[in-house]
Amino acid sequence: MDKLKEIFADLENSTQKLADFEREPASVPDGYVSPLVGDPAAIKWYRARRAFSYFAWDIYAGAAIKHYQAANPNHGVPLLNEHGAFVGETPIHLREMLEREYLRCKEVPWRDQRPEGSAFNPLYDPDSYPAVRDQECSHREMSVDLEALLNDILASIAPLVEAILGHYWSAGAVRLYSHKPGQDARFHTDGWPLSLRKLMIYPSGAGSGKGSTAFFLKNDLVVDAAGDKGAWALFENSTVRHKAIAPQLGNSPRPTIEIVITPAFKTDPKIKGSGIHVMYPWLPSDIEGLEGERVTNGFTTAEIKNRSLLRTLLLAMDMPGELKTSPLCKGLGYLDI
Ligand SMILES: [Fe+2]
Repeated sequence: MDKLKEIFADLENSTQKLADFEREPASVPDGYVSPLVGDPAAIKWYRARRAFSYFAWDIYAGAAIKHYQAANPNHGVPLLNEHGAFVGETPIHLREMLEREYLRCKEVPWRDQRPEGSAFNPLYDPDSYPAVRDQECSHREMSVDLEALLNDILASIAPLVEAILGHYWSAGAVRLYSHKPGQDARFHTDGWPLSLRKLMIYPSGAGSGKGSTAFFLKNDLVVDAAGDKGAWALFENSTVRHKAIAPQLGNSPRPTIEIVITPAFKTDPKIKGSGIHVMYPWLPSDIEGLEGERVTNGFTTAEIKNRSLLRTLLLAMDMPGELKTSPLCKGLGYLDI
């Protein structure tokens, strides 16, 4: 707890100090020691941050759905509502190119793909470590060409994705990995805020021994995604239980492009960032493209980010009374909400 108090005491530099605090585990030399193990300050911070993230996304998603419905009075029931997963196709003329560009991306071990600031995110999995990750999957770095192609593919399916979700959407970060032949994963949900979804694109196709993803649908049927090169599945990854189906032994690893899809007030299919450790924006105010905009009561997104960090910090510290009334808090406005 002292560590959090120390950060709070230096309010002027708190944003930077929190970023350093989160990055600390990334510098552990002998691999990946979870910050959630043995550090009470980190555990408190993680829980507060996750609770605040769920809350903020719920509110934001509700507003985004209302906005979409007002702009599209003839909207139907979102296609995702029925089963929780939807399988689609990449336009036929882009399929070969997608597989080729994916396979051209450089392979990089899991451990080495750790962009700054993303080692400790709301999804941080204390049970995962490089040895296991590299046994199950190989990982790749995004190339400029693949990114451009993905932006084209996402733009081409943008109206369909709106109908599936029932709201405007934005593409977030992308992870590239190939599941190796061997063991299937276990059924699980991802534990993200429920309004965020996953889009999985399979550059070499899915099913027929190539590997796939199995979904435990809302009607209690279990189905595997299947399709040609560029087949994709959009699903409620925190509601619908799912598991990776490994390719059959002797087959190639199953290439996968995993994209975070967030609700939005305007559809923006351009992907934002990549890397195997990059997850979702933990707050809607982290969405790119809003920088400098005055969005709430005249606050800019940068100011909202700062206030959110401080609010989370107070939550993690159980909001002790003496800090609530500290002169350090004056003018920040976080007690008004
Ligand atoms: Fe998952």
